[in-house]
Amino acid sequence: MLDFIIDVETCIGCGQCASDCPAMIIGMETGIPAIAEDLESFCIRCLHCVAVCSEGSVSLLGYGPEEGRVLAVEKMPKAEQVEMLVKGRRSIRNYQDKNIDAAVIDKLLEVAGHAPSGHNDRELLYTLVDDKGILYDLREEALAGLEQLIKEKKLPEGMEMFEDIIEAWKSSGKDILFRRAPHLLVVSALKESASPLHDCIIALATFEFYAASQGIGTLWNGLATLTITELVPSLQKRLGIPDDHRIGYVMGFGYPAIQYQRTINRGLPRIHRVR
Ligand SMILES: Cc1cc2nc3c(=O)[nH]c(=O)nc-3n(C[C@H](O)[C@H](O)[C@H](O)COP(=O)(O)O)c2cc1C
Repeated sequence: MLDFIIDVETCIGCGQCASDCPAMIIGMETGIPAIAEDLESFCIRCLHCVAVCSEGSVSLLGYGPEEGRVLAVEKMPKAEQVEMLVKGRRSIRNYQDKNIDAAVIDKLLEVAGHAPSGHNDRELLYTLVDDKGILYDLREEALAGLEQLIKEKKLPEGMEMFEDIIEAWKSSGKDILFRRAPHLLVVSALKESASPLHDCIIALATFEFYAASQGIGTLWNGLATLTITELVPSLQKRLGIPDDHRIGYVMGFGYPAIQYQRTINRGLPRIHRVR
């Protein structure tokens, strides 16, 4: 049941909702938008119909115009501000030893949850370590699991760097695996969703930029991803990630203990122009 409700007092019958509907299920036969019952299952719940209506006359699934904010070009961040955000975001490998407030993390996740997903499946799970003590315990578990692999000579070929990671931790307490991030975010998706891996990566990229906008540092953590998904798979259970989920990636985050003073210039990326 979609609960597609039109305020007939305000609807001007412009048909914008119908023409923007990606599933093409909104009909204008009566001059007022309507979705036939047998077409409801084709709705991908993107809420474009609510978002596009100039009169605020549409609501779907209980979401009406009052749930969102009014959009206008002048309300968007300026191009230079976005450029500064994109160029100023860096991988953070040095964190303050403190937790971020739960309300701040919730806001980061709420915004990241607006990232696009294939077929608008939204079958993502954001597994969060919101307390540094828990992450430090997890680090012990991960390192112990890796050490066991090394002892049993089961470390796959090409992954000898994990020997150095254990060595660095034991000899000097240097944490190359998690970079002493106080928090961890693992985004996973239902394996059967339309595009599990891509959805997770886009969600994390969205999370990362929004975090950067408020001085919160992040690190795409390939080493932790490898550890959790392949080397010490018991960690996936420990994290409570369901078996029918595919882990997209692991990201550490927290308040940085360093501050970069300038952006760098990478010039244009490699471009192939098709003629
Ligand atoms: C998919 C991915 C995996 C990464 N894995 C790690 C990692 O395991 N450890 C690490 O220190 N940095 C990791 N990085 C960070 C990259 O080294 C970093 O993005 C790159 O050097 C560019 O630096 P910048 O992010 O500060 O611009 C990873 C980045 C990406 C995108």
